[in-house]
Amino acid sequence: MGVPTRHVALVAVLFTLLFIIFRTTFLPSSEALMSLNLPFSTHDSVSLSELASQPNASERANATFVILCRNSNLRGVIQSVRDVEDRFNRKYGYPYVFLNEEPFDEEFKRRVSVLSAAPMEFGTIPKEHWYAPPWIDEQKAAAARKKMGEDGIIYGVFALLCPFVFFLGSSCFGVPVGVGFVLKVDFSHGLWMLRYYWRVEPDVHFHCDVNSDPFRLMQDHNKTYGFTISMYEFEATIESLWATAKDYAQLHPEQLHPHNALGFISDDGGSKYNLCHFWSNFEIADMDFWRSEVYVSFFEFLDQKGGFYYERWGDAPVHSIAAALFLPRSSIHFFDEIGYEHPPYTHCPINGERWTKGRCSCSPAESFDYDGYSCLSRWEKTIRRLFP
Ligand SMILES: *[C@@H]1O[C@H](CO)[C@@H](O)[C@H](O)[C@H]1NC(C)=O
Ligand SMILES: *[C@@H]1O[C@H](CO)[C@@H](O)[C@H](O)[C@H]1NC(C)=O
Ligand SMILES: *[C@@H]1O[C@H](CO)[C@@H](O)[C@H](O)[C@H]1NC(C)=O
Repeated sequence: MGVPTRHVALVAVLFTLLFIIFRTTFLPSSEALMSLNLPFSTHDSVSLSELASQPNASERANATFVILCRNSNLRGVIQSVRDVEDRFNRKYGYPYVFLNEEPFDEEFKRRVSVLSAAPMEFGTIPKEHWYAPPWIDEQKAAAARKKMGEDGIIYGVFALLCPFVFFLGSSCFGVPVGVGFVLKVDFSHGLWMLRYYWRVEPDVHFHCDVNSDPFRLMQDHNKTYGFTISMYEFEATIESLWATAKDYAQLHPEQLHPHNALGFISDDGGSKYNLCHFWSNFEIADMDFWRSEVYVSFFEFLDQKGGFYYERWGDAPVHSIAAALFLPRSSIHFFDEIGYEHPPYTHCPINGERWTKGRCSCSPAESFDYDGYSCLSRWEKTIRRLFP
């Protein structure tokens, strides 16, 4: 019978030793990484010069995909990236940033990186960056989480701060980490230096060919925020959000844009919030807006009030209220041509020519657009006021 057992054992010991020597010599320790204060493990990062030398670089906008997920989302991530590639990115090669709360495993990276020739960065958000600000009363927050849990409200809320403010939804980071912790990450590095991002979640579908580049549309037409689906928020998660936003607006009336989209989020000139928001699991947006003084100061004001912890303010209504108040409404764009499904809702272009040209695999009859729970007709009214 083949090789004696003690030879096998010896070889195994040798390999282990070599591996340990390799690791300690060539890979930075986690402390070293922390002391550099980098949000990502450096050996997985893509440099901007590398991006510039990619095919079609000159045609591309200054942009990236962003996917927040865990190792356990592998199948859903493959599904989403496959759709993004088939319907759009195969021709363009925009890079991807994957963000996880723990390091991506080799299997994840191997299975995902084979899906596209585009550069991919697999980033880890160090646990140490999760924090609840010192002014938060943890007992009160815990009580609120418990109450929300009992009420069956499942939306997790996390914020990624400074200088770029972003939030994570429940499907990625929600349950195990706990609800209501704010995450502080320095995004002044790597692909985060790009300007536009397209947020993609695991397990979504893109149903139509995207024949012209949405990032170029954003960049060439000064768009700041793009959406496909809008709807009403659960009031229980944001009871005091509008009152807080109004307090902010009263302190900084000069920050409200004269051609804002207040009509989309309020039916009575701002007295009450009508709960409409852009569904932010799909989001094509300009990070410069989230990094802007106006947004950062608005966010910090909200954060001080504690509603992310005591209620469950989500990224969607916060982003939507900020976009609707501080931007010109002409800079918010409805991407009708992008057929998008985040179960249970689908946006499918109803316009026949768009649907045909996009070779769409969704049914316009199933589109959420004019569902009773959709806010699209309010959006159309708001925009009509701009282009009478
Ligand atoms: C990118 O380059 C490839 C190969 O040259 C080409 O087929 C493709 O159309 C280009 N993409 C765009 C958006 O021009
Ligand atoms: C891309 O956008 C970022 C953020 O706005 C900016 O700092 C950078 O100069 C831009 N890069 C190019 C090549 O335009
Ligand atoms: C975009 O904004 C720039 C700078 O404000 C302006 O010069 C340009 O004309 C705008 N382009 C469009 C298409 O509105």
